[in-house]
Amino acid sequence: MKGVILAGGLGTRLYPLTHVTNKHLLPVYDKPMIFYPIETLVKAGIKDILIVTSGPHVGHFLGILKNGNELGVDHLEYAYQEKPDGGIADALSLAESFADEEPITVILGDNTTDADISEEVTSFKDGALAFLKEVRDPERFGVAFFDENKNITGIEEKPKNPKSNMVVTGVYIYDGKVFGHIRSLKPSDRGQLEVTDLNNIYIKNGEFKWAELDGFWSDAGTFDSLFAASKYWAEKNK
Ligand code: G1P
Repeated sequence: MKGVILAGGLGTRLYPLTHVTNKHLLPVYDKPMIFYPIETLVKAGIKDILIVTSGPHVGHFLGILKNGNELGVDHLEYAYQEKPDGGIADALSLAESFADEEPITVILGDNTTDADISEEVTSFKDGALAFLKEVRDPERFGVAFFDENKNITGIEEKPKNPKSNMVVTGVYIYDGKVFGHIRSLKPSDRGQLEVTDLNNIYIKNGEFKWAELDGFWSDAGTFDSLFAASKYWAEKNK
């Protein structure tokens, strides 16, 4: 399977740090943030990777990652998202020719995890699959709700009153229909094409599965989560 890392956006929640470079190149303990999602993909056998990026510092990626070989990547491609605030689904739309109608594993470039996703990657057939995690602050994320058989019946993006503690992490697997679904999306109130709206299409179609992300997981898009992620990896590496 091929992998896509979404590493665009302006990272405004991390100003002034992101005036200097792209959010995904900031350090999480001893490595640039984007090394973590690359390592998650490579560990799952995914070595053909597209990085979608945007914003004023896109050139920095090449200097750090080069062809990706030092991280175990066989083939690294880059795509440029014209609108840095177009949203996750807009960024993903740029992966259409790279995916070539095959399934893709998608990771948000600010998500770090030590979970092993190889089983789900290997057994994936069609539809969509999202990795979920129980958290204490679900209102910061896409929150899933379930029927009595633990099937997801819907996802709400950053709800004030979350219906569960199970949130959608930034790790997903999509089949080739994903790009057609993205074309049918309308911008949300914050003017973005939302990954949650995309996932809700698969849920409505009865084509959505989930798995628990088994291990540490954190995004790193705010000062607190960036610090928490750095602290975890520092302690783990000792
Ligand atoms: C995005 C998604 C959200 C998901 C989160 C995971 O949020 O919109 O559904 O739970 O990533 O990191 P954002 O980081 O854009 O606020």
